[in-house]
Amino acid sequence: MTDILIIGGGIIGLSTAIALSQKGASVTIVESGICGQGATWAAAGMLAPEAERLEGDLLTFGIRSREMYPQWIANLMRLSGQDCGYWCCGMIAPVLTESDRLEISQHPKYIDQIETHRKQSGLGKSVLGSLWLPEDGQVNNRKLTQALLTAARSLSIKILEGTTVYQIERDHQRVTHLETSAGKMQSDRYVLATGAWTRALMPLPIKPIKGQMISVLDRDRLLQRVIYAPSCYIVPRQDGTIVIGATVEDNGFSQGNTAAGVAQLLNRAIAVYPAIANMPITETWWGFRPHAPNEIPLLGASDYENLILATGHYRNGILFAPLTAKWISDYIIDPNIQPLLKQSLSMENCPSPQRSAVLS
Ligand code: FAD
Ligand code: GLY
Repeated sequence: MTDILIIGGGIIGLSTAIALSQKGASVTIVESGICGQGATWAAAGMLAPEAERLEGDLLTFGIRSREMYPQWIANLMRLSGQDCGYWCCGMIAPVLTESDRLEISQHPKYIDQIETHRKQSGLGKSVLGSLWLPEDGQVNNRKLTQALLTAARSLSIKILEGTTVYQIERDHQRVTHLETSAGKMQSDRYVLATGAWTRALMPLPIKPIKGQMISVLDRDRLLQRVIYAPSCYIVPRQDGTIVIGATVEDNGFSQGNTAAGVAQLLNRAIAVYPAIANMPITETWWGFRPHAPNEIPLLGASDYENLILATGHYRNGILFAPLTAKWISDYIIDPNIQPLLKQSLSMENCPSPQRSAVLS
């Protein structure tokens, strides 16, 4: 019998497992495929509470989590010995129309066209000005996943890949065990970190929102900032890869890239950063964001006293991982901390975890 069993080995499951293990708990992760191959693998890795225009408590949550990143990464690097491609490169959020320019020109972070082009050369003529967001940055989410896995193994966290949870068996207010492809599993407590697939196990209001992505190779490595344009973002990695995203599609778990999706991304990206037109395409892929009502993750208690929710991180799960892991691990170690969880994500905007757990 292990102390805590985490269902789902994406960034949320892995980082929560590490936080719990570092607090002395014994942790097992059950993952149906390969850890980190869900939304965590598909993401662009932006750490962008400001560019993503989060609001209210969610903005505060995002900024706090962004602030945790340097130390969080240092801990992972210490445990894993691996680089995570964490880069405080700053973001340019360009405006492309005169009316948008007028609308944001009084914003304290607004910079005019000349200053924008000075921050990053090679931008298209359509860029009329921008918000300069020096604190937003990025991490290489695929490298980060590898580091999380190595760190988890170094802490003796048990990782069961290729093991699907079919059913969460309950008796009144408690989860009794899990039915899995490897048989029955039992634990004191369970964390649900199943991302876009959550609804297959619990009647929670989580749905997949597909995002198509593409990458090109910038041999000259002249792009040094993330460009977060109105309907496309361009993320330069330190190895010269440029990640371009993303579509936002509410059509279930439909697989594959489409010609229209890829064309849309390329056209928009080339308008903002024309040099992309001549760069070779290196990869296309897609993933499913776990969307929750009002885009607010479900964190904390469920209808079952030994089942904790950590799902619904939608567009910002890479950003939100350090603070999610801290909150969930603090709460599990000391459930009296729960009121903090509730206060921090305002209940006016957010169905409480308990209420969410019974929505279908
Ligand atoms: P996932 O990574 O999807 O992990 C869930 C895991 O649970 C999966 O591995 C799955 O196999 C497993 N699982 C599910 N059901 C079961 C079961 N029954 N039994 C066992 N295992 C199960 N966020 C950012 O912060 N910045 C970005 O720039 C960014 N860009 C994105 C771009 C795209 C195209 C997409 C799709 C997402 C992006 N995101 C971004 C969002 C971010 O990727 C997600 O919010 C985050 O990865 C969610 O992590 P997770 O661990 O909850 O889910
Ligand atoms: N946060 C970027 C995306 O979800 O596409």
